[in-house]
Amino acid sequence: MKRDFVTVGDWSAPELREALALAAHLKREHRAGISHEHVLRGKTLAMIFQKPSLRTRVSFEVGMTQLGGHALYLGPEDIKLGKRETTEDIALNLSRYVDGIMARVFGHEIVEELARYATVPVINGLSDLHHPCQALGDMLTILEKRGELRGTDLVFIGDGNNVAHSLIEASAKLGVRFRIACPEGHEPNAEIVARARAEGGEVEVLHDPWEAARGADVLYTDVWASMGQEGEAEARRKRFQGFTVDVPLVERANPGCLVMHCLPAHYGEEITYEASRLPNSVLFDQAENRLHAQKALLALLL
Ligand code: CP
Ligand code: NVA
Repeated sequence: MKRDFVTVGDWSAPELREALALAAHLKREHRAGISHEHVLRGKTLAMIFQKPSLRTRVSFEVGMTQLGGHALYLGPEDIKLGKRETTEDIALNLSRYVDGIMARVFGHEIVEELARYATVPVINGLSDLHHPCQALGDMLTILEKRGELRGTDLVFIGDGNNVAHSLIEASAKLGVRFRIACPEGHEPNAEIVARARAEGGEVEVLHDPWEAARGADVLYTDVWASMGQEGEAEARRKRFQGFTVDVPLVERANPGCLVMHCLPAHYGEEITYEASRLPNSVLFDQAENRLHAQKALLALLL
């Protein structure tokens, strides 16, 4: 039976922990100069992109190379997902050529449909609703920096978006306490929050960043307008005033609090440049860990 990684919530806590342990192992060995080119020798990953990307594209492509396989970039103009043929037919065709599909899409139902019809594993490389690979890499980063996940207070400042949703699901599975401070009307998806709580996750939704930041072990933020919301950017800039992660907000959190951002960043909006370059700001460790976490996923799934 093939397995997919469409949302973090689809995976059990032991499965997530297995992926994190494998990621840490692959990272350690890679740094020691040990080759993993035998792991996926001769295998191909199709990478479908409806949206732009730096980290996701490069880390998946480099990851496949390091595992001895090959990655195929299919940009918006190549297969014209949603315009040229059905998602079902794309999934059925690609399954005859490749060993796995990674897709970055607008509607979350597109990646669900790819997973339903493909006979090879499908990995969600970001949808409007979820960004599971980001959350997996971020949990690896928190684990490395803090030595543990359980009991960590992860505080998200800003939009209740795809990144927040996957962090909520990962937090619930791995014993991280999640808190978000967002403007009214920008709360995370109520069903995702309810599901996380039903699984025993601690999820708090607040509207005051100053209140939320107190006691934080991790302060996390992301852009106020996600890809596809460019038309709302100006209105959101006004609505999100006061939701900037800056040095005073970081000083309000616990000593040694990690500052995190999935990137790309809009400096001066959701985070100041100064806050992004503090000694405990780990933005580029997060970016690197996308590679190691996704190599683990690829090794487990393909
Ligand atoms: N964080 C992240 O997914 O970055 P890209 O959009 O550049 O892939
Ligand atoms: N929330 C952002 C994340 C980018 C990695 C977006 O969807 O654009």
